[in-house]
Amino acid sequence: MTCSYPNTRLRRTRTHGWSRAMHRETVLTPADLIWPLFITDGKGVEEPVASLPGVSRWSVDGIAKRAKEAVDLGIPCIALFPNTQAGLRSDKGDEALNPDNLMCRAIRAVRDACGNDVGILTDVALDPYTSHGQDGLVDEAGYVVNDDTVAVLVDQAINQAEAGADIVAPSDMMDGRVKAIRMALEMGGHHNVQIMAYAAKYASAFYGPFRDAVGSGGLLKGDKKTYQMDPANGDEALAEIAMDIAEGADSVMVKPGLAYLDIIWRAKQQFGVPVFAYQVSGEYALIEAGAAAGVGDRDGLLMEKLVAFKRAGCSGVLTYHAPVAARLLNG
Ligand code: PBG
Repeated sequence: MTCSYPNTRLRRTRTHGWSRAMHRETVLTPADLIWPLFITDGKGVEEPVASLPGVSRWSVDGIAKRAKEAVDLGIPCIALFPNTQAGLRSDKGDEALNPDNLMCRAIRAVRDACGNDVGILTDVALDPYTSHGQDGLVDEAGYVVNDDTVAVLVDQAINQAEAGADIVAPSDMMDGRVKAIRMALEMGGHHNVQIMAYAAKYASAFYGPFRDAVGSGGLLKGDKKTYQMDPANGDEALAEIAMDIAEGADSVMVKPGLAYLDIIWRAKQQFGVPVFAYQVSGEYALIEAGAAAGVGDRDGLLMEKLVAFKRAGCSGVLTYHAPVAARLLNG
């Protein structure tokens, strides 16, 4: 394109609202949003998460109500995360395999309330169930062992699929887990259960409020750097994504979101597969804190960030702002 003044005046098309609307390259809709929800025990319980203003943990009945709200708002999918009670957490995270755990009860309640009007995405990783807060099984030295962890994750994914999950999303970053889960789903007759792989998941400083919300933060000793990626690496993210696609992932995720727009862009350009971003808890909390501190209008801040994910090539975004954003989009 040759642009030279005054033949080209790029401001011409910006003169009126109708023209700006007509020339808009990227459109965000509620169908681009996935709403992460935290589950807690009890009935009629809502527990606000202090580090995530505006976000609560809900008991199973409340989760079903939020799922109905998602349907009404045009949000196609919810993502579920349990806050397992302390007494049920163990070294090996066995509660993840209980067919009657909080996660499975929530899946069934959402299905009862909404039928197939909403997609149910479930997190495959052991951190909400382990007494040490790591995503897998640890050896004596505290190292998260790969292959033994994969075997448990397979059972966890099958447990979720049998309860009715539509999309299982391994967030553990073990090598080979997508292939193992895909094979087990096929063998179990769950041919249409999708895998959204947390393919490029970084060892990030932005996960703090999430760990508060699922109750694993206080338990975690050390960090997750032997399995989650180094924020300095981009080529390695593409290798992770290539492997997960080859192993049977239906879609891939980049996490966190805004600091990794280059990875989203490269993934989309290189592989052309559906790419999703997880705008994580710390990103949400920073927008809320920034708005509260007078940095800018909250709605403006959040919508600008969400449209950036679409512009970078995302098919959708997991965001705690999903209901707020959907309401703004629905006018
Ligand atoms: C754990 C998991 C994490 C998140 C989603 N799944 C945290 C972690 O890896 O420690 C973070 C999401 C967020 O911060 O919103 N497997």
